[in-house]
Amino acid sequence: MSYAEVYEGWKKDPEGFWMQAAEAIDWVKKPSKALFDENAPLYEWFCDGEVNTCYNAVDRHVEAGNGARTAIIYDSPVTHTKQDISYAELQTRVASLAGALRAKGVEKGDRVIIYMPMVPEALEAMLACARIGAVHSVVFGGFAASELAVRIDDCTPKAIIAASCGIEPGRVVHYKPLLDGAIEIAEHKPDFCVIFQREQEVAKLVDGRDVDWNAFQYGVEPAECVALKGNDPAYVLYTSGTTGAPKGVLRPTAGHLVALNWSMKNIYNVDPGDVFWAASDVGWVVGHSYITYGPLVHGNTTIMFEGKPVGTPDAGTFWRVISEHKVKSFFTAPTAFRAVKREDPKGEFVKKYDLSCLETVYLAGERADPDTIIWAQDQLKVPVIDHWWQTETGWPIAANPMGIEALPVKLGSPAVPMPGYDVQIVDDAGQPLPAGALGAIVVKLPLPPGTLPSLWNAEERFKKSYLDTFPGYYETGDAGMIDEDGYLYIMARTDDVINVAGHRLSTGAMEEVLAAHPDVAECAVIGVADDLKGQMPVGFLCLTNGVNRPHAEINAEVVKLVREKIGPVAAFKLSVIVDRLPKTRSGKILRATMASIADGKEYKMPATIDDPAILDEIKTALQGIGYAK
Ligand code: COA
Ligand code: AMP
Repeated sequence: MSYAEVYEGWKKDPEGFWMQAAEAIDWVKKPSKALFDENAPLYEWFCDGEVNTCYNAVDRHVEAGNGARTAIIYDSPVTHTKQDISYAELQTRVASLAGALRAKGVEKGDRVIIYMPMVPEALEAMLACARIGAVHSVVFGGFAASELAVRIDDCTPKAIIAASCGIEPGRVVHYKPLLDGAIEIAEHKPDFCVIFQREQEVAKLVDGRDVDWNAFQYGVEPAECVALKGNDPAYVLYTSGTTGAPKGVLRPTAGHLVALNWSMKNIYNVDPGDVFWAASDVGWVVGHSYITYGPLVHGNTTIMFEGKPVGTPDAGTFWRVISEHKVKSFFTAPTAFRAVKREDPKGEFVKKYDLSCLETVYLAGERADPDTIIWAQDQLKVPVIDHWWQTETGWPIAANPMGIEALPVKLGSPAVPMPGYDVQIVDDAGQPLPAGALGAIVVKLPLPPGTLPSLWNAEERFKKSYLDTFPGYYETGDAGMIDEDGYLYIMARTDDVINVAGHRLSTGAMEEVLAAHPDVAECAVIGVADDLKGQMPVGFLCLTNGVNRPHAEINAEVVKLVREKIGPVAAFKLSVIVDRLPKTRSGKILRATMASIADGKEYKMPATIDDPAILDEIKTALQGIGYAK
């Protein structure tokens, strides 16, 4: 069947489409139907089915006789380690960890925070939670203690599983002090913490609270998989929104399984047994969907890569891993390719490796610029597929479905909507716009299985953030257009979220940190275009009257403050001091206009601007730090 036939087939009979996709999942009790719309506009899928995620990701492959197949390849150039873990070994390890968690009182529905680097134990921790029905919330290692504390208070975990350290090129990330600091700041205290001690750093355990990863599993009975309702949460993953408080995206159990399993063949074109590699981090949604759950549920071999595209040890690392482990489909962020291209523009490293195993490359997480795609196509000689999705959806909204039909690639477009997503472009009033017109990108409700049914403990915020602006539609927060052939183009965010090196960050969160500096009266953070990272944050500070200290000192302090409060991942390195900020007459800071000035783009003078002269001052300030040319 062609893509058009599959998509039309879904449109005509969504219920039949998803019930058929659900056949590929092993249920404890099959669902009687797919969509549950009694609480519209809140929708749920497969609610009356019963299922276990870990069983589908691990046990069923062992029971089917594939226990010897490699489930995880751990490849860590930063620690010079490689390890293969078979499905049978994974089952034993996960059942043991799950049993130990249960023995310490973790039960179905309890939350468990996982704060770990890219080691197989992180993935095992996720699966162990899934096995006993605990709801995990993985926190990215690049976040600081206070960000971890916010998540602890929001999801109130019974336990936290952490590693003693992570390894960034040139430095050890001391997880344990960050964890201890976070627990101290947080109002909620977990019952216990499980610490995975790494060779590179052995952390000091807190008496009565911390247990050692190995020791606490000693002598416990392994846990079996428990049955969960289809709409029970599989996990909560926090993502950046407009304000400083992150949004806890809820992932439902059954829809997640059905959608990810469907995507592995139809989008990523892999069959069970094939090696699939997503070079991301388990702390992001890509890591959840396409390092952990998607490949394992589908019976693939997944790669856990602890390294960077460059510098670990060189710009050939990606090609080494692909060639050595026979990767068929490879997924990364455009920024990673830009980093490789910068160091090895002519692809000298590419030539050193046999990449004949590689069939397709997938890019997501940020806009894929045509130069990067062309470079990758030229070097790798395989299709390079841009696809678009979000933490909220958990799997691609738009893609080139290589397992159904390889559609012509149009540079700058993540191709076409996937079944389940009726994507439309609307104006501010919610009216549909014609092909080629720029507007807000929305998806007609219901969203498909696997997407967020709500936010953790925040249904009203869910409605306000995603459903209220355009009744009957999900607001993606992205702006763009659809061309005559139905191809989507993602142009910009409609909110104050920026994308730095494929990482989604809230300028609002950074502004909260800057505003807390005693010398700062007012501030704004914008994302400016960056050749490597796509965007970089830049802060504008208006100082409190009477402050008369060297500006360089204040700038250095706020940079340090953001690193301490949000974390190194914010990559906040630059701020400027200005007298005033440009605002509308109602007081709204004109961040988008400031960003256009920084990038040297044309902009329309906002009709409601209070004092246009301020824009010249902003331009001068930006020129002082090398922007607005
Ligand atoms: N734990 C602790 N710190 C981390 C971290 C982690 N897991 N990940 C990143 N950091 C730190 C980095 O060490 C860096 O710290 P520094 O300021 O001391 O140098 C900071 O956070 C910013 O990191 P990053 O934005 O990633 O920049 P970088 O210069 O270290 O690396 C790239 C640049 C392009 C190589 C890197 O961003 C990259 O690999 N990007 C791909 C992103 C990706 O795959 N995203 C997944 C979304 S699909
Ligand atoms: P995250 O939730 O971290 O996955 O970030 C999702 C956001 O990243 C989207 O809403 C977009 O703004 C951006 N994004 C992701 N993929 C793409 C893409 N292929 N093209 C353009 N922007 C993208």
